[in-house]
Amino acid sequence: MHWTNCAAAVVIATALAMMTPTAGGQATAMKPAEQMSQTAGANERNWWKNAVIYEIYPRSFQDSNGDGIGDLNGITKRLDYLKALGVDAIWLTPIYPSPQVDFGYDISDYRNIDPRYGTLQDFNRLVAEAGKRHIRVIMDMVMNHTSDQHQWFLESRSSRTNPYRDWYVWRDGKGETATSKGEPPNNWESLFGHSAWQWDPKTRQYYYHKFYIQQPDLNWNNPKVHQAFKDIISFWLERGVAGFRFDAITTLYEDPTFTDERVILGKDGKPLRNAYGDPELDNSKTDNLPGVHDVIHEMRETIDKFNTSAFPGTRVMIGETYLPNIAQLAKMYGTPAAPEFELPMDTQVAFINKLDVAAFRARLTDVETRIGDHVPLLLFDNHDNPRMVTRYGDGVHDLDIQRALATVLFASRGTAMFYYGDEIGMVTTPPKRKQDVKDPIGITGWPKEKGRDGERTPMQWNASADAGFTTASAKPWLPVPPSAATINVAAEQNNPDSLLTWYSELIRLKKTNPAFEHGSNIMLDTENDKVLSWMRQAPGARQVVVSVNFTAQPQTVNLAAGGPGLKPARLTTLLKTPGGADATSLDRIALGPFGVYIGELQ
Ligand code: NOJ
Repeated sequence: MHWTNCAAAVVIATALAMMTPTAGGQATAMKPAEQMSQTAGANERNWWKNAVIYEIYPRSFQDSNGDGIGDLNGITKRLDYLKALGVDAIWLTPIYPSPQVDFGYDISDYRNIDPRYGTLQDFNRLVAEAGKRHIRVIMDMVMNHTSDQHQWFLESRSSRTNPYRDWYVWRDGKGETATSKGEPPNNWESLFGHSAWQWDPKTRQYYYHKFYIQQPDLNWNNPKVHQAFKDIISFWLERGVAGFRFDAITTLYEDPTFTDERVILGKDGKPLRNAYGDPELDNSKTDNLPGVHDVIHEMRETIDKFNTSAFPGTRVMIGETYLPNIAQLAKMYGTPAAPEFELPMDTQVAFINKLDVAAFRARLTDVETRIGDHVPLLLFDNHDNPRMVTRYGDGVHDLDIQRALATVLFASRGTAMFYYGDEIGMVTTPPKRKQDVKDPIGITGWPKEKGRDGERTPMQWNASADAGFTTASAKPWLPVPPSAATINVAAEQNNPDSLLTWYSELIRLKKTNPAFEHGSNIMLDTENDKVLSWMRQAPGARQVVVSVNFTAQPQTVNLAAGGPGLKPARLTTLLKTPGGADATSLDRIALGPFGVYIGELQ
């Protein structure tokens, strides 16, 4: 699938892990929030500005209890791996109790942990153990909808006069009679196929769902919904989380006229059809309506209350912001008077889906020059899209292409986010038969849309039959791909030419080289349509140049003509792809197919 648009008292069960010695030598219990901030050092406030964030799909990362489903204790077990990689924060896709129709994005209780993943005690231990390693934990916050099994919805659907009725979006059908439900209120569609309206026979109205039928949309015109989420957010902040990734944030509001959306026509004058066979709509009445900005700001105010001396360290807001252009993305940062996200995701760069130098240069320049002083959040992958190697690979130079893209990710200014398994080169492995599909959209859309199982397969830790994901006797919830035999952590860990080593090296540079840490991004050699080159420059730091060959042919670039402020000086290699040549001056940087050169000007 391509989504281009689209109680302060913490239960301290693991007391030992969370004790800290006082001056007198006795141990006192700490709240996870305090522990996180104390271990994180002086740069705590700005930690997110040049950070490396690792997305974990908990079902698929590490199973610790042999049921074939990943869990929190499994993640805790792998923290040392993440630490060694240089990860600053992990974002966990939803781990709350859920019927798992949308694998956690259908939440039935926002204040607990799904028993498949563990307990609140396990969660506290994860936060504490992560904190010891200076790794922060970011939760997913789903505010657009709940599960249809959430108590709020069960109440809401029970009668038209129930106090929770207006927590959701209910409308009469068109042409309804005593014996017929009529037609849905308008032509709006679910992103997961077919009408966005579901008839509810008990109270004889339709409810709106932008996603699955089992995910009714909340009514954000109701102030009680706002308050409920402020309380939920506070609940988790008190447990020491370092922030939230806000799911489906652009779809919170619906146009109050509830009139039809425009059908998009093809060149032949007929409606374009999506993978489910439905007409494509312009989404103008259900996506990115102005009210979302007020909600983001409101949540930011709630979170900022925790960014005080009592809870030092910045908690951040990440946005799932699929937006059509940089101007819309810029708005997601808010204004000085009404700040919004610190880190709205830049899906402009992520989903170019073609190794087109000009497009990369233009979009990276956009995010460098058109979001004010804010920090870009770059990424290529997540749990909703085919993996980057599948979208950008050519089947011949896949490893080199992944090195090239990782360089764009980590050597550009900003915060970098990547998805578990990208660092070893995991490939998308979709189900071969409809009966094997787990993600419901893969059933509705088969065979055009095979769902998202392919990018959610178990993490490949080693070459064993279960890839080290689960115990030998358990059946993983999704099959381990055959590629695990060669693409796995154990095979790559001590190999200097592996993708995993390349990721570690790039992250090390990002964290230790002053130009990479704070420097601005200035594009060089801007007429070149084969090689993307840029400079990182920070006051008082040595300039660094980066060249990435976007072609399968060797290329040589001459950066001596410079760019604004580039000094003609001797070059020292910081990093180059295996087999690549060292360069000593800017006028001759030789690159192999999809090769990368990073050098510092002396
Ligand atoms: C975006 C999430 O990333 C996706 O996995 C989910 O299905 C939808 N939002 C609905 O919550």
